Amino acid sequence: MLRSHTCGELSSKNLNETVTLCGWVQKSRDLGGMTFIDLRDRYGITQLVFNMEESAELCEAARKLGREFVIKATGKVIERSNKNNKIPTGDIEISISDLEILNSSKVTPFIIEDDTDGGDELRAKYRYLDLRRNVVRKNLELRHKMGQETRKYMDAQNFIEVETPVLIKSTPEGARDFVVPSRMNQSEFYALPQSPQTFKQLLMISGFDRYFQIVKCFRDEDLRADRQPEFTQIDCEMSFVTQEDILNMFEGLAKHLFQSVKGVEIIDFPRMTYADAMKFYGSDKPDTRFDMKFVELNSIVKGKEFKVFDDAEIVIGINANNCASYTRKQIDELTDFIKRPQIGATGLIYLRYNEDGSLKSSVDKFYSEEELKNWAIAFDAKPGDLILVLAGNTDKTRKALSELRLEMGNRMGLRNKNVFAPLWVLDFPLLEWDENANRYHAMHHPFTSPKPEDIALLKTNPGLVRANAYDMVINGTEIGGGSIRIHNKALQAEMFELLGFSKEEAQKQFGFLMDAFEYGAPPHGGIAFGFDRWCSLFAELDSIRDVIAFPKNNAGRDVMIDSPSSISQEQLKELGINVNAK
Ligand code: AMO
Repeated sequence: MLRSHTCGELSSKNLNETVTLCGWVQKSRDLGGMTFIDLRDRYGITQLVFNMEESAELCEAARKLGREFVIKATGKVIERSNKNNKIPTGDIEISISDLEILNSSKVTPFIIEDDTDGGDELRAKYRYLDLRRNVVRKNLELRHKMGQETRKYMDAQNFIEVETPVLIKSTPEGARDFVVPSRMNQSEFYALPQSPQTFKQLLMISGFDRYFQIVKCFRDEDLRADRQPEFTQIDCEMSFVTQEDILNMFEGLAKHLFQSVKGVEIIDFPRMTYADAMKFYGSDKPDTRFDMKFVELNSIVKGKEFKVFDDAEIVIGINANNCASYTRKQIDELTDFIKRPQIGATGLIYLRYNEDGSLKSSVDKFYSEEELKNWAIAFDAKPGDLILVLAGNTDKTRKALSELRLEMGNRMGLRNKNVFAPLWVLDFPLLEWDENANRYHAMHHPFTSPKPEDIALLKTNPGLVRANAYDMVINGTEIGGGSIRIHNKALQAEMFELLGFSKEEAQKQFGFLMDAFEYGAPPHGGIAFGFDRWCSLFAELDSIRDVIAFPKNNAGRDVMIDSPSSISQEQLKELGINVNAK
């Protein structure tokens, strides 16, 4: 090794030892007779001191070191007169007797410090420099720990990690595929896996029994803070299990990760049906760090000549505790918030339950004080509370109120990033109606098993069939989702038929799986977690980009390597692709 120690480990225990450190120059201070250098590596920062009296030559050399030069320095560990209790090495410094410049550095485009002056674009272009920053590196260290602890738990539970191929054919997870042309099979394409779904099911048929994989998945979909075109799943599958077994097994994984990575004991792991999640939170991934449940007002507000409510399918609201003092301006802001096109509500009705017990609403014209009291009772409101109400079509109104609830949660400081509220959402509908395509889609994926007691409804009222499907939700983020699978060819065929596949199409696309079901397919089920999402939640970040070493931007581009990019005419020709290169 070029070094004897790292920049993070020396303390007064090492006094008088001669050590050699390697690292990057964080900054230097020239005090005339002495030059100080903060030397940084992955492990920390150690102060180097060059003394004019001891060696003018060395001191001169130190003065010339620029930020981010890579050096090797040897010297004696001495006690620091000016101790720095903010860093672990703050009691000591190294009196340098030998200095070697391993490499110089240009002036970096932004300062390599926690508080940098570089904007997003610049840091993305020079991601390798951004990764030198503590704050960014720490996220990847956390990710590493998450991966290690996941493997530890899964291994202890007898799961075997099996790699599945990346050049495959389309898997139906609901997004578009990334495709790869084949030179040897011209005009044919591989698809990159949106998940290893079919392979993990085949592994169950092979008898592997408990499989997992920390695996890259690829989806060509619109990007958001919690979505990347390539992302990582903790993908899992088990045989001979019920839904209950899977929930318990992965509640175990969650508890293990919380404990080993965050030092947080998770005692309560509540379960909520999809129907309740929609009814009380307007979302299948409710943020349960705070309550503020929806209250339905249909039975008490209709028939009072207020057209907005009378015409509405649903009238629902939330109670924002202690917000009655909200000003007109604040309420206008909330109204603007719910009217934004992404949310699309038409108006916000409020009821202030003033501290003096009086009630003041934006619909006083239609409702007497006595009637408004009934609203307050429905919400279990106390003096000082503010009730916010939306009305309209059920799905849209629930969605809008869900956004308003989250916004109020933010405003009221109820969404603390270091508080964790995990839960299971259960009993998802098997199918969802697609208005545009005029047909059903699988809500999870087509391999999901209906609840046995609902199978008869497949023929009569498919929209009502519930699935043996579940999501793990933490703090309003869908961390993972899975299901018990169909393992019977006839039921799988019926499912494809419901989804609008012809027999031929189903056979062509998924014949390999349906055929496999005929060779002793065990009952099985599984789940996949969004590894990036879980890491960013634990790192208490807003975006998964920060826990990915080399992420793509919102346009799906890697601006550092400039990808995607055009390829040469020769490559295109070889692949048999007949387009003009850019
Ligand atoms: P699903 O499609 O729900 O299920 O994906 C599982 C989890 O992966 C994460 N995820 C993503 N993370 C980042 N970027 C994306 N673009 C992205 N898309 C999904 C989410 C999600 O909960 N094969 C099934 C699992 C199963 O049935 O076992 C599947 O892939 O956290």
